[in-house]
Amino acid sequence: MDGRKSVSESSLNVAQPVLQARDVSVQFGGVQALSDVSVSVRAGEICGLIGPNGAGKSTFLNAVTRLASYGTGTIMLDGTPIEGAKVRDMIGLGVARTFQNLGIYASMTVLENVMLGGHHQFGGRFAQTIFNPMSSGARERAARVKAMTVLEEMGMADVANTIAGALPYPLQKRMEIARALAAEPKILLLDEPAGGLTHGEVHEFGELVDKVRRSRNLSILLIEHHMGLVMGLCDRIFVFHLGRNLAEGKPEEIKSNEAVISAYLGRAA
Ligand SMILES: Nc1ncnc2c1ncn2[C@@H]1O[C@H](COP(=O)(O)OP(=O)(O)OP(=O)(O)O)[C@@H](O)[C@H]1O
Ligand SMILES: [Mg+2]
Repeated sequence: MDGRKSVSESSLNVAQPVLQARDVSVQFGGVQALSDVSVSVRAGEICGLIGPNGAGKSTFLNAVTRLASYGTGTIMLDGTPIEGAKVRDMIGLGVARTFQNLGIYASMTVLENVMLGGHHQFGGRFAQTIFNPMSSGARERAARVKAMTVLEEMGMADVANTIAGALPYPLQKRMEIARALAAEPKILLLDEPAGGLTHGEVHEFGELVDKVRRSRNLSILLIEHHMGLVMGLCDRIFVFHLGRNLAEGKPEEIKSNEAVISAYLGRAA
């Protein structure tokens, strides 16, 4: 940036998306998983990312969190490119996620799992231990209080001391979200969080995600195959097909988009 921005450019920056990916391509050996995909999520917005199996949705989250390197394109957080960042930097940059396949510590308690989410805020490096006025005991207490607050927010306070592996699968997925929230992210990336939920539970889950988004002004990018949830919850939806952008729009636009219906939704949607 050259510091000579016009007024209109400056005002554009005010509305700058929290996440902006442009023309991102990812290749695994001979597999072209993503070709020039673009996605943006604004502050406080819930965006859906949908498409058939193998469309590249999880790969896109991996690119945003630096787990997959992208050959071409740009990914920006609050206008700053993330190209130089490592996987471990992403949480400090405000990006938290859950995984399509559970990423939990099954033998630890729910509370301990969620405390790990806030780990980067409470330190642990040698220099921080010396210069940080908080003792390690005080840091642990602060992490515990924060984790309990998030568990209450997620309606999981009653299972805080349960061993995570003993929870029903949908609650393990919810715990993963709690752990991501403990990091106080700007943007939360959810990869099929409603797996295993019944119809009634999906509705309640949608209300919970909406409440969390509003109370934190959080941006969310949601991958889900559960169309009732996606259409009811999302402000905008991006559709991938064969590693490319197929469509983008409001739920009602996506529902009636012929290309999306024929590639993914089918006539019943
Ligand atoms: N680590 C990897 N190595 C090689 N190929 C991969 C790897 N990860 C993903 N792929 C391939 O990239 C393509 C996109 O996969 P991806 O998992 O991103 O799809 P998806 O849209 O998340 O699908 P689903 O809805 O089934 O989860 C697929 O062809 C997949 O086989
Ligand atoms: Mg996937």
